[in-house]
Amino acid sequence: MKVRNVYEQGLMRKSGVIAAKALKRAIEAIKVGVSEIEVDKEVCEEIYRLGGDLSYKTVPGYKYATCITVNEQVVHGIPTGRKFEDGDLVSVDLAVMYKGWHTDCAWSILVGKDPQKERFLQIGEQALWEGIKQAIDNNRVGDISYAIQTEVEKGGYQVVRSLVGHGVGRKLHEEPEIPGFGTKGAGPLLKRGNTLAIEVIYTQGGKDVVLDTDGWTFKTADDSWGGLFEMSVIVDKQKAEILTDWRNV
Ligand code: MF3
Ligand code: CO
Repeated sequence: MKVRNVYEQGLMRKSGVIAAKALKRAIEAIKVGVSEIEVDKEVCEEIYRLGGDLSYKTVPGYKYATCITVNEQVVHGIPTGRKFEDGDLVSVDLAVMYKGWHTDCAWSILVGKDPQKERFLQIGEQALWEGIKQAIDNNRVGDISYAIQTEVEKGGYQVVRSLVGHGVGRKLHEEPEIPGFGTKGAGPLLKRGNTLAIEVIYTQGGKDVVLDTDGWTFKTADDSWGGLFEMSVIVDKQKAEILTDWRNV
């Protein structure tokens, strides 16, 4: 696992601010009657306006700025003309490339109000923060995985097994894999300066996902809700530095 130097970290920080601003704009844009493709367009504009480039361009065959998933969809949804409706659970996943440095982030929100869905989202978000707390020097990847799994299962939900977080930096996807499930103290050792995309990919019901007929979108096998929370971070001594925190931009 690569340790990034101060200069490289500086570029990743800039990439992360662009991603955070784009994610914030997406979150603000998601409303009843707005379509997925309109949100994708706004994100694309924001990334270019801020001097970034679309990281997803580096994925063969993919030509959007974001992946957008609704309700039983879990990840990798292609933005379509589908309009958001009251009660929709919507996840936006996006990545930015800035001077060759990638950052990746995702967030899930609810359109309207629904206590059951709000609780589902709260647990997923909390699992992300618990995972990030473990991204410190001399911990192991399994400490992050275990923290995420514990939080999600405590809430009564399940972590998807076939999709994982990952290293991030010169490429969108680098080693190591960072599962949202696993064993404390197991897996690769973390060092200050490692850059990770930590992801909570979870469902309300069963942990199985199936690929949709569009060839991209994964949805839950049992049609229960899917949720997605992801931040790119730099491992540090006491506390990871979060690069893509849309709440602070
Ligand atoms: N952002 C996704 C991830 O977290 C990758 C999406 S790849 C795409 O790893 F091609 F579907 F866009
Ligand atoms: Co990712």
